Amino acid sequence: MNKLIRVKKIILALSGKLPARRSLTTLDDDVFIVSYPKSGNTWTRFLIGNLVYGESGKVDFKNIERLVPDIYQNSDKQLLKVRSPRYLKSHEYFDPRYNRVIFIVRDPRDILVSYYYFCLKVGSIPSSTSIEEFSVKFIDGRINLFGSWAQNISSWVHAKKEGLLLLKYEDMVADAESSVWAISEFLGLKCSQEHVSKAVRMSSFSRMKQLEAQQSDNWKPLKGTRKDIPFMRSGSSGGWKELLSEEVIDRMEKKWGPEMRFMGYE
Ligand code: A3P
Repeated sequence: MNKLIRVKKIILALSGKLPARRSLTTLDDDVFIVSYPKSGNTWTRFLIGNLVYGESGKVDFKNIERLVPDIYQNSDKQLLKVRSPRYLKSHEYFDPRYNRVIFIVRDPRDILVSYYYFCLKVGSIPSSTSIEEFSVKFIDGRINLFGSWAQNISSWVHAKKEGLLLLKYEDMVADAESSVWAISEFLGLKCSQEHVSKAVRMSSFSRMKQLEAQQSDNWKPLKGTRKDIPFMRSGSSGGWKELLSEEVIDRMEKKWGPEMRFMGYE
């Protein structure tokens, strides 16, 4: 690690400003929105935010970090000030301290495409990187600290027997309202049909895309990133069929075949 980054990290740690990550203090009534990156976590945060806080206003990119915070953008100290029950975004592999978990799974072939464009957008890979080059790191699980897609999802699906609501991105795209009803039941909320429909409307792809155009520089993860690649990119499933080569698909299916089949991705 670069010396300057190390010094910066030490200063942040001493002042209690380092993102909480794995050293988060967990509370019994916390609700975690967990997923492998690019599986629809932000959408789920908007849905939950609009469901829980919809009465007092609309969720947007300016208030999402306050209402449904991200454990990688906020310090433990900041998160301990959040009103209980806290709804927190996480990408961690299995953590036994997470009591209630809404876990979102997405087809890893679509994740690969979404992740590739996101990394180009934020500049975490050189703009000359091809999707083939990116796929090697992605399939090896060397793209982040959360393990590979298969390791991460298996750690939750096989280890957490209670207190887990499993949602599939593809089901959410096909019928967002049913997923919101499942969330509402899991959280023990008493929601009306109108309330659920409004949360879906306020979190639709088109509304979030419009908000991104107006507010992307007000949201830390997107601040200063490339505007020619949107965060709200396709919002659909199956795009990988046009964008991935046979070789990449084969490599992924050879490595993760059992996990993909287990999750219903043939
Ligand atoms: P694409 O890049 O395939 O479009 P995350 O929030 O976990 O990083 O996931 C980002 C992905 O979720 C992006 O996928 C984004 O477009 C999609 N997404 C975000 N909001 C959505 C919505 N309201 N409806 C459908 N997809 C949404």
